[in-house]
Amino acid sequence: MKSVKAFAPATVANVSCGFDILGFAIDAMGDYVEVFRKEEPGLKVISIEDDGGKLPWEVEKNTCAVAIQAMLDDYGQEIGMDIALKKGLPLGSGMGSSAASAVAALVAANRLLGDPYERKDLLPFAIVAEKAACGAGHADNVAPSLLGGFVLIRDYHPLDVIKLHVPDSLYCTLLHPHFQLNTSDSRSVLRDAIPLKHSTIQSGNVAGFVSGLYQEDYELISRSMRDVIAEPYRAVLIPGFYEVREALKAAGALGMGISGSGPTLFALSKGAEKSKEIAKAAEEIYQNIGLGVDVYYSAINTRGAYVLEENK
Ligand code: HSE
Repeated sequence: MKSVKAFAPATVANVSCGFDILGFAIDAMGDYVEVFRKEEPGLKVISIEDDGGKLPWEVEKNTCAVAIQAMLDDYGQEIGMDIALKKGLPLGSGMGSSAASAVAALVAANRLLGDPYERKDLLPFAIVAEKAACGAGHADNVAPSLLGGFVLIRDYHPLDVIKLHVPDSLYCTLLHPHFQLNTSDSRSVLRDAIPLKHSTIQSGNVAGFVSGLYQEDYELISRSMRDVIAEPYRAVLIPGFYEVREALKAAGALGMGISGSGPTLFALSKGAEKSKEIAKAAEEIYQNIGLGVDVYYSAINTRGAYVLEENK
């Protein structure tokens, strides 16, 4: 194999009630990585497109290179690869931008080697890259980007990742306001400890949400979309948060929360039509607030990352 190009989808982490343990992938957009085999050992980033010149090219810092290096360290052979990244996702958006890059790089590099790793076995390497990118090795973006659908990270030590059922009619609307919020900054406002009563509320909601997915009970999904751990501290970083939520719920959203660490907001809805109506309501409310926003609506991506092209 000479080169392989892969795509990895955007993701919504936390899904309100599942801080660091729940995420899902969306169809609407993602990142592209092409990996080329080269004679001499070692990794090199040869191009980065559409990042506004902001991403690092050094292999110790670039999320694609860090992920592939973690895989090669485990693989145990001196292999040479050139890496070309094309961003489809805005940086610092809360749509799993760094995760999509790392996952696309791993899927492409794994294929270049002849797929020695099962899909789920790439996850620890993606987590290494996520830690390098934002200081925390959370898996709730990389796991759904890699595996598709809704994913629960039941435990991190050892890693125990479970793909969940996706109701057919569940759709998502994403609102990306025009400013950047880095995950490390958005994590720094969180508390280290939470009151017992908040732990009880959060556990009830995450269990309710997962049950809602399996029972395709949209009302239960809606009731369970509540976050008392991260959202109260992060909402203040996102202008118009509560106003937007009220408007989207009035437009029929099952719930609205912060996508990952923000500033993108996500809403879930029953049916594609409803997700479009919510998108329209979002555009109107942001116009009233006076903030620029990009709005997307999408089915849930159940496939995860995939290989787009192979050159033998
Ligand atoms: N669970 C992570 C956080 C996701 O909320 O910080 C970051 O996208």
